[in-house]
Amino acid sequence: MAKGLGGKVAVITGAGRGIGQAIAERFAAEGAAVLVADVDVEAAEVVAGGIVSAGGSARAQAADVRNPADISAMFDAAEAAFGPVDIVVNNAGIGGATSILDQTVDDWDNMFAINVRGVFLGVQEATRRMLPRGSGLIINLASAAGKIGRPYMTCYCAGKHAVVGITRAAAMELAPHGVRVVALCPGIVDTRLWREDLNPDLTELEGREDESAWDVRVANIPIGRHQVAEDVANAAYMLASDDASYITGISLSVDGGMVLH
Ligand SMILES: NC(=O)c1ccc[n+]([C@@H]2O[C@H](COP(=O)([O-])OP(=O)(O)OC[C@H]3O[C@@H](n4cnc5c(N)ncnc54)[C@H](O)[C@@H]3O)[C@@H](O)[C@H]2O)c1
Repeated sequence: MAKGLGGKVAVITGAGRGIGQAIAERFAAEGAAVLVADVDVEAAEVVAGGIVSAGGSARAQAADVRNPADISAMFDAAEAAFGPVDIVVNNAGIGGATSILDQTVDDWDNMFAINVRGVFLGVQEATRRMLPRGSGLIINLASAAGKIGRPYMTCYCAGKHAVVGITRAAAMELAPHGVRVVALCPGIVDTRLWREDLNPDLTELEGREDESAWDVRVANIPIGRHQVAEDVANAAYMLASDDASYITGISLSVDGGMVLH
């Protein structure tokens, strides 16, 4: 039986672990050839190796999304290995929590370089490659924090709101040319970003002693459980399927009912 993404070529940034890994594995399971890109190339190699061992098509590529040359090389590598790129997932991102008073300019600039400029550079390079073919799909990883405010996350929220804005503007510019642009807005996902990077800092900043910031938030998720990376991969696959061919410009909440818009 034909698989949903058979014959497609996908590039996924930050795919060495977490949400990017889950999307890479799901797309490969659906028949796509996947370029697993990450600044941590060893992690990317492990993920690509796992996909190939499971019978899929994948290769690893070192790519720091802050660097335009890396983004361009990533598309070159995918084209050389598999052919023209049909889907790019601008997933790479970092998390971090700090009070407004303690926010440093260097940390602000670095988070924006990865979470915002990196997404824009992925959109720009995808546009260069997809416009001449008149087709393609760009999926950007925004966040619930791209739609609502979060205490101690000014920089992260600002960056994710920017990703929603990039998605909307690019979707309008590219729709007449057959290229769709969408964003995913996950909630509280069980990955290193939340568990190891955000949770200790947020728990301390919020002055919690008996329960962690993670526990408090998960207890308030309407659907009654925390999110796993596969929940996001399911939504990415849904938007990548032909059934979504009339959907562009949306920033889809995938968060168990936390944000209802
Ligand atoms: N975990 C959550 O709860 C959550 C919620 C909403 C949105 N998101 C977003 O989803 C995306 C993935 O997050 P995750 O939870 O899987 O994080 P993660 O920390 O588990 O994985 C992030 C991956 O990105 C890579 N990366 C970091 N900087 C990079 C760079 N400069 N260039 C290329 N790769 C880089 C890391 O090496 C890692 O493999 C991010 O954009 C994040 O903001 C996560």
